Amino acid sequence: MSAQSQVRRLTAPDITKRKGGEAIVSLTAYHAHTARIIDSYVDFLLVGDSLGMVMHGYESTVPVPLELMIMHGSAVVRGSSRALVIVDMPFGSYEESPQQAFRNAARVMKETGCGAIKIEGGVQMAETVDYLSDRGIPVMAHIGLTPQAVNVMGGFKTQGRDKSEWKRLEADAKAVSDAGAFAVVLEGMAELLAARITRQIPIPTIGIGASVECDGQILVLEDMLGLSPHVPKFVKIYGQLGAAIEVAVRNYAEEVRSRAFPAPENTYEMKQKTATGVKRASKNTKFGST
Ligand code: KIV
Repeated sequence: MSAQSQVRRLTAPDITKRKGGEAIVSLTAYHAHTARIIDSYVDFLLVGDSLGMVMHGYESTVPVPLELMIMHGSAVVRGSSRALVIVDMPFGSYEESPQQAFRNAARVMKETGCGAIKIEGGVQMAETVDYLSDRGIPVMAHIGLTPQAVNVMGGFKTQGRDKSEWKRLEADAKAVSDAGAFAVVLEGMAELLAARITRQIPIPTIGIGASVECDGQILVLEDMLGLSPHVPKFVKIYGQLGAAIEVAVRNYAEEVRSRAFPAPENTYEMKQKTATGVKRASKNTKFGST
């Protein structure tokens, strides 16, 4: 068998080329099985550090360790074959210096097999974006509401609703674009500002709570599937998986208690002896006859 996959995975330059064209579709993914389901519908899968809050019960993304990102990142790469996989660099793994960022980002790329990484920050991270991009690491930047800075911002605060903030946020977008980022996430940003930034820079803007004016959109998968107990205003719920899980689990619990489950079709029977040899007793034995 060829070592090359049949399907060519999208790359960071493929995403950059989509600027101003068909809207770029993306979602977060944290596991191999969800990555497998959504792979063919999205252009990139982001292994976001939001997994700390969504999967591991942290109050913010600040405590997320690099090892956790690597573990989930490699699962998503294994579960997908077409979408570009981007792994978030967690708080504390890249801010100190471009060298620290390179060391950790190279580890993420080697150990997960992802095609790019994402870091939060604008002007102050431009040097790091430039350093990484120059050394073979495609960087997606993330500006506006940057959750890793929650303790400095004093909460998850929407950005750019006051015009006095525009100059700073526009400078952030220009700085990461000039430094070589292949795309930039605009999070929690007023529509007018997101539209201005999208027009001003040559790389795609990916919005999350930043309006339809962006070149593409991303949502946290669990939020749009109705699995998260609370979601921000910008999330549209496309499925009610939380309710579906509850119905399924309630039915299971009832059937276990009433002994309706396991039924005969879920039960292994003894092998039956025939004149010609051993015959399987049931066709419904999903995992074989042992
Ligand atoms: O961690 C994450 O899920 C993200 C998205 C919200 C863009 O950074």
